[in-house]
Amino acid sequence: MRVSVIGCGYLGAVHAAAMASLGHEVVGIDVDEAKVALLRAGRAPFFEPGLPELLTEAGAAGGLTFGTDIAAVAGAKVHFVCVGTPQMAGEFRADLTYVDASVTALLPYLRPGDVVAGKSTVPVGTAERLAQLVEPTGATLVWNPEFLREGFAVNDTLHPDRLVYGLPTDDDGVVTPAGEAARAALDEVYATPLADETPLVVTDYATAQLVKVAANSFLATKISFINAMAELCEATGADVTRLADAIGYDNRIGRRFLNAGLGFGGGCLPKDIRAFMARAGELGVDQALTFLREVDSINIRRRERMVELAREVVGGSLTGKRVAVLGATFKPDSDDIRDSPALSVADGLEKQGAHVVVTDPQGVANARAKWPNLHYADDVLTAAQDADVVLLATEWAQYRALEPDALAAVVAHRNLLDGRNVLDPAHWRAAGWTYRALGRP
Ligand code: UDX
Repeated sequence: MRVSVIGCGYLGAVHAAAMASLGHEVVGIDVDEAKVALLRAGRAPFFEPGLPELLTEAGAAGGLTFGTDIAAVAGAKVHFVCVGTPQMAGEFRADLTYVDASVTALLPYLRPGDVVAGKSTVPVGTAERLAQLVEPTGATLVWNPEFLREGFAVNDTLHPDRLVYGLPTDDDGVVTPAGEAARAALDEVYATPLADETPLVVTDYATAQLVKVAANSFLATKISFINAMAELCEATGADVTRLADAIGYDNRIGRRFLNAGLGFGGGCLPKDIRAFMARAGELGVDQALTFLREVDSINIRRRERMVELAREVVGGSLTGKRVAVLGATFKPDSDDIRDSPALSVADGLEKQGAHVVVTDPQGVANARAKWPNLHYADDVLTAAQDADVVLLATEWAQYRALEPDALAAVVAHRNLLDGRNVLDPAHWRAAGWTYRALGRP
């Protein structure tokens, strides 16, 4: 099938390449010429494992093209809207400028029976509004949220945990004939994952839009729950990692997303829970989500606590102390530094007078552009040279595998802060290090 993908960021570029690898003829559109030039050359504009291979294969097979001119979408049967919905400056609300502009730009190319499939994360009610724009063309709007995780985006797109279709319904809540036709078109697009028995939830617009923010709110809540327990562990001498293991054995709870530490960041969880709270306020049900304020503030508190811990281990003042921060990205296997706990802690340390040197396997270029006040190094040993404190802030595999003796040879003082609870305290202590972590004795 011929499909278009509007917006070639973390979501759209992966979606375009993945759809091409499923055998569809895909055109990806983005306003950023530099990004499009890279994608055309089969190169990923950001770090995402597996994406370069997918781009090269699909590009070579001829089923994947990219451009900046929206006119190239003409003739596509399904148009996926994959543009960003960032947080508005100074507000919790999501900025829908790019979603609105994309759908408006598509209108002249829509034919009766075509499908516009929204994948961006939007406040509930957006699809209903966009449908009003799309309907006069005879095309149908569907809401088809995306749940991919950065670092696993290719696998998550090709082998999703579930697919969700939000379809237009009549006053009785029954899917309209146009909705049924749009469903058939999406079934054709996703024939391969559906044949693999991927669960499919077919529902209305409102539910489909809520699924995405509800899922992200739940994940954020799970992380903040364990981080709240970490605060209790710190006050009592308990170990949050053992606590998480023990409660995680309960199948109803599960061990995943119970890793305590510096908390969540990135382009999704923080802004999605804030936008969800803002939307609940507009809908007059803000009380339903006041707990998310707490989720957000527990998350931010962890960053502040880490700065405090650094101050404690160096004896009360960070002025003039050298701190090596290992990790800049919000999570490993990504170059994304949006709302990164690592950089927010690095900045907090610097504000208290420390000399902070940040290193990261993929995120240094992005970090340098956004945080020019910090210092950067290409590798761990350079970053840790003469350090008074080493802080592991993002759990890249190479940092988890660090050996205490190698690091001891370059630092000034053996102080290690494990911001992600991924190192073995006994191993580091045996090598003469002071090991401190969030929620661990
Ligand atoms: C998230 C959702 O998982 C995904 O389904 C959605 O489509 C987009 O938002 P992503 O932002 O890529 O994906 O990252 P995720 O793997 O969910 O991690 C988010 C943050 O939580 C990271 O900063 C991570 O370090 C942190 N985290 C995760 C924890 O602090 N503890 C955990 O146990 C798990």
